[in-house]
Amino acid sequence: MTKSIDQAAQELLFTQANTPANFTDAPVSDSDIHAAYELMKWAPTAFNAQPLRIVLVNSPDNRAALVERVMEGNQTRVRTAPQVAIIAADTKFYEHMPVINPGMAGVPLWQNSEFTNNLANSQSWLQLGYLILALRSEGLGVYPMTGIHNAKINEHFFADGVLQTLAVVAIGHIDESAARPRNPRHEIETAVKSI
Ligand SMILES: Cc1cc2nc3c(=O)[nH]c(=O)nc-3n(C[C@H](O)[C@H](O)[C@H](O)COP(=O)(O)O)c2cc1C
Repeated sequence: MTKSIDQAAQELLFTQANTPANFTDAPVSDSDIHAAYELMKWAPTAFNAQPLRIVLVNSPDNRAALVERVMEGNQTRVRTAPQVAIIAADTKFYEHMPVINPGMAGVPLWQNSEFTNNLANSQSWLQLGYLILALRSEGLGVYPMTGIHNAKINEHFFADGVLQTLAVVAIGHIDESAARPRNPRHEIETAVKSI
């Protein structure tokens, strides 16, 4: 196994990978997303909880319903992107413990809903980060959005209350002609210190 990735891969994932202003019309299939999932699923989560759920919004009716439930500035992107996913946390992730972490199945911890809800939330966000990088590694552009109406999305798409929406993500092939400048990132002095 190689122990590091080369500069071209680092550029694809990080230094040259901006949040794309526009996508081309090239389609992104469910299997493209499945391929990214097959990578990101191996990245770690606490207790191996894996609470992230990805709901691909393909049908015209569902896409239209989602457009109505995101903030105005995000509506065109959600309407036109080749692929759009609702990113949600499974608040009952612990029901899968017998398979994904048998040693933790049925422990009293899972009866503490404050703990389980916090874990579902934090670990789903962590997994969304992994998903962004996995999609980028396939050469796709990713536009995450938290400018959405979470409660309205939950009410319409996840009426039983088990899945809690975190974000909506637009995915496509990047239209390089519409590149937009990137804002600066913090210098090491701001973000990292040794104590
Ligand atoms: C979790 C998350 C939520 C975001 N929500 C929105 C949003 O609702 N609307 C929007 O226009 N951009 C949104 N963005 C895009 C960010 O502003 C953008 O990724 C950031 O400024 C970095 O841009 P760059 O990758 O082009 O350098 C979001 C990004 C992330 C990671």
